[in-house]
Amino acid sequence: MRKVLSKSVASISPSATTSTASLASKMKREGIDIISFAVGEPDFDTPDHIKEAAIKAIKEGFTKYTDVSGIPELRKAVAEKFQRENGVTYEEDEIVITNGGKQALYEVFRAICEEGDEVLLPTPCWVSYTEQIKLTGAKPIFFATKEENNFRLTLEEVTKNYNPRVKAFIINSPNNPTGSVIEEDELKKIVSFLINRDVYLITDEVYEHLIYDGKKHVSVASLGEQEKQMSITVNSVSKTYAMTGWRVGYVAGPKEIIKGINKLQGHATGNVNSIAQKAVIAALRGTQEPLHKMVQEYTRRRDYMVNRLNQIEGLKCQNPDGAFYTFPNVTALYGKKYDGNIINNDLEVAKFFLEKAHVAVVPGVAFNYPGYVRFVFAKSMEEIKEGLNRIEQAIAELV
Ligand SMILES: Cc1ncc(COP(=O)(O)O)c(C=O)c1O
Repeated sequence: MRKVLSKSVASISPSATTSTASLASKMKREGIDIISFAVGEPDFDTPDHIKEAAIKAIKEGFTKYTDVSGIPELRKAVAEKFQRENGVTYEEDEIVITNGGKQALYEVFRAICEEGDEVLLPTPCWVSYTEQIKLTGAKPIFFATKEENNFRLTLEEVTKNYNPRVKAFIINSPNNPTGSVIEEDELKKIVSFLINRDVYLITDEVYEHLIYDGKKHVSVASLGEQEKQMSITVNSVSKTYAMTGWRVGYVAGPKEIIKGINKLQGHATGNVNSIAQKAVIAALRGTQEPLHKMVQEYTRRRDYMVNRLNQIEGLKCQNPDGAFYTFPNVTALYGKKYDGNIINNDLEVAKFFLEKAHVAVVPGVAFNYPGYVRFVFAKSMEEIKEGLNRIEQAIAELV
């Protein structure tokens, strides 16, 4: 019989974050009371003024196809946002509105990568980069950031791993799954190392506003004209405005690349939902008060979670600078036993948490960084407290 799947699709793995979440949902459907720290999305509702803009768009019949790259008014609002928040000047034809940051990244890789290219990817890294890169025929080259540096990227790590086949380099700051934020000085050094090496810097800034302790987010494109020409900036409203389901992201970069992405999107999906585009204009131009409140609340939850995790024997957790994740080291649990099972790795730690504490987390191996698990703190304080109580109890019962 003919093989059904293409080689490229057969070679990719399903998203590990979604598969852990679906196992947890299955247990929930079976009536088990699961607390899930597995899915990376805000527990807050989309602010009202954003919803109202969408309702207005529907009532006014704004329900037809739009320009593939997004309605001009939204691209203008995004350009204003880049100017206001990041200090970068982008023209409207240097921006494409996409179906989330996810599609933006996929289209970037499709637009610039091919067989034989290599893409430098610091780990731990978000699950989809690897598979998206593989789909283009290019090869991800992983290198590890260090727990003792709070997973912050360093120039030394970049220079050690660079080679002339490298076409692109990914920076994700604040990072998923560690929350680490790259230091401005280090970022400048890395950029000056790469600047004359014909490398694109793909900077995934979807967590730029979820940042704590006065830390500062710096966009590579803001560092100068040459830096702007080498960088492709990906962003999204999903995490910033609690709009994960609306599916709106955007990408900004050199005109040639943006043109290519536009062609690709025109054939693949066409424009982003017209109603959601109107809502995003309200999100970008409207009050930022709900965002500030969310950040305050995330800070409170982060402080609580990190503190509690570090009090539980066998877990060791850094203090994340941003995003809404903690990434504790769980290797001290290896070799311990429960119900006749021995815990040998982070996958088995996650399985143990799910089976014995009814708590879902994502194993570090999903982020190319075994030995750790990822907890999401975009959950209510009650759920965080209860989930950590359960984990503490389950670990205390290990032999
Ligand atoms: C680092 C990172 N980039 C991009 C995305 C894509 O988000 P969205 O497609 O909802 O904009 C995510 C979502 O989890 C993420 O964690």
